[in-house]
Formats: sequence, C-alpha cells, structure tokens
Amino acid sequence: MKAEKNIAVEGRHLVKDFNPGGTPTKVLKDVSLKVAQGEFAAIMGPSGSGKSTLLYILGGLDSPTSGSVLLNGTDISRFDDAKMSRIRRQKIGFVFQFYNLIPNLSVEENILLPLLLDGRKKQEYKKDLEHILEVVGLSHRRRHTPRELSGGQQQRVAIARALIGRPEILFADEPTGNLDTGTGAEIMELLREINRDSGQTILMVTHSPEAAESSSRIITVRDGVIC
Ligand SMILES: Nc1ncnc2c1ncn2[C@@H]1O[C@H](COP(=O)(O)OP(=O)(O)O)[C@@H](O)[C@H]1O
Ligand SMILES: [Mg+2]
Repeated sequence: MKAEKNIAVEGRHLVKDFNPGGTPTKVLKDVSLKVAQGEFAAIMGPSGSGKSTLLYILGGLDSPTSGSVLLNGTDISRFDDAKMSRIRRQKIGFVFQFYNLIPNLSVEENILLPLLLDGRKKQEYKKDLEHILEVVGLSHRRRHTPRELSGGQQQRVAIARALIGRPEILFADEPTGNLDTGTGAEIMELLREINRDSGQTILMVTHSPEAAESSSRIITVRDGVIC
C-alpha cells in the first residue's frame, strides 16, 4: 500500500459546542479534514459558519469539545496549557485580520518578539531576520514603528513574525479582511510566493473568492460541517 502523503494537520471528528447564556450551540458538527505538507488550502463559507472556530482548534488556540487534532501526526488536542503554548510558539504561525503589532516596537523587534519570548537569542536569528524582511519586502522599513506603516505593510510584518520561527504550518484568519482590494491581492500574492518558494504549508480562512483563487484547494464550511 502506498504511504499516505505527509499530513501537516488533521482534524478528526471535531465537535465544538458553545454555551452562550446557557443555551448550547453546536458550532462544529463532526468535522474531519487533512491538510498535506506544502499545501495552500483555503476555508470558505458564510459568516458564522464556524470557520474561525475550526482554524483556532486546528491551531491549538482553542480546544474541541470532542474529536482530535493531529499536528504532524502528534495528537495535540489533550495537551495541557503549558505544552500547548510551547507547541504554538515553536510549530505554529498565526496571522489575523488585525495585525496585533506592538505599537512602540520597531518592525524588526515585532518580528523577533515571539522568539525572544520563547527564550531564544536574537543573535542566532540575524540571518533569518534579514531573509524574512526581504521576503516580505520590508528591509528598508525595519526600524519603523507600525504607525508609520500602511495596513498592507503591517500585515507583512505580522506574516514575517509568524514565519521567522519556521512553523510547520501557517494559519491565517481573513488576512485580507481589513485591506482594500489591491492591497489584499498583494498580500495573497505574497502568501502564494511563500508557499511556492519555501513549501510553507498554509491554511487560510477567507470569504474573498479572489483570495481563495491563490490557494490550491478550497474547503467549504457551512453551518458547522464541511461540504
Ligand atoms: N467564544 C464563543 N462563545 C460563544 N459563541 C461563539 C464563540 N466563538 C464563536 N461563537 C459562535 O460560533 C459561531 C461560529 O463562529 P465563527 O467560528 O467565528 O464563524 P466564522 O468565522 O465562520 O464567521 C457563531 O455563531 C459565533 O457566534
Ligand atoms: Mg471568522
């Protein structure tokens, strides 16, 4: 039998219930999916269908009510908080609609922050920093602070920060949701280049059909199920 292609992340029978005001709501109803290493997959679906919830559970930011998440074959869904935050720092990159940069830190300080918080030495990442600044096209803005940058440039910083630790997988939740169409297209082109040039696995939520066109597979979520 042929060996299964290497899977970066897999969700098995994921169920998620929320209990807002004591009323149980099933947000994910038995969702299973696999994302292969090197893939650039997009999750699409109507607002409120459970896309972000699914992404956060796969990325270890939230835990499922039942079901499991395998990151590179390791079941992380029962890890405790300490173990989970280590996995997140070392193996997972996240990019959100809002860039979540620290306003009074420079571009390069923002990019290095997760590594420093993880106890790693800045000097060891000099080359990686140069490289990632070049990839996102911000070498000339390295000493600027976020407020001196456009939205698209701030999102580039967030992408660099997510990638400098060489995550197994990059998760992105509506990364162009706060940008105008032209800038959004540039960010998509950047993600496509990163996927193509370094084989970075990417799983992205978007409701922009143009954005989804950059991906190699579209996963549709509707009312808590994949269809
Ligand atoms: N922390 C939470 N507590 C209660 N309900 C939540 C929570 N997070 C999400 N939900 C609900 O789950 C549903 C799906 O949300 P979400 O995954 O954010 O959808 P999408 O990203 O597809 O717009 C929504 O009805 C939302 O209100
Ligand atoms: Mg969402």
